[in-house]
Amino acid sequence: MSAVQQHRPDQRTAQLSEYTPTEPVPEPGEAELHPGLDLPLLRDLIRPDHQLWTPRELRELTRLVTSELTGPLLDVVRVDDEQRWWAKLGLTSGVELWLLSWAPGQGTTPHDHGGASGSFSVLFGALREDYRYPAGPIRTSHHDVGASIGFGSGRAHQVRNVSSVNSASVHAYSPPLLPVHYYSDLSEVPPVPPQRAHQQQKEHG
Ligand SMILES: [Fe+2]
Repeated sequence: MSAVQQHRPDQRTAQLSEYTPTEPVPEPGEAELHPGLDLPLLRDLIRPDHQLWTPRELRELTRLVTSELTGPLLDVVRVDDEQRWWAKLGLTSGVELWLLSWAPGQGTTPHDHGGASGSFSVLFGALREDYRYPAGPIRTSHHDVGASIGFGSGRAHQVRNVSSVNSASVHAYSPPLLPVHYYSDLSEVPPVPPQRAHQQQKEHG
């Protein structure tokens, strides 16, 4: 095995590291930004004092980042044909922001967001999203370049690039760094909304 392969995370690690808490969040009023996007505009957009973001606010964040910071995003983004690629763009105590790329055929497994609200905007290419709210039907949406959606904490989904060209998208979640739940199929999503980790602790404690 080559050194490059040895340092690549396995698929399970790759899926988990997208969202799973790995670090303390910054103090309110502070923001950690990717070096390639440590710009006054992003520091303004990510609103370091803002704690709980609504789906509409998250959608506006990813929409503005994608439309106003297209150049820096294109400088940062990479596409790896062998496994999905991503980079953390920003983190505050209220929100996390990511840039993800999708080669043709790449996608997530079905998952919820651990009780966080979320959004994403398509930077280039197109994405298919199969999604479901608790006790609801499984639906499918196609998001083309420039599209933005925001969603509440009940949404579970599977996002895939089913096209023949590369895609990339900007994602935001609030509260940040909540552990997500994976499912083998969207039919397994339970009929009650996911609870945030701290709420579960309160219930069990
Ligand atoms: Fe997701």
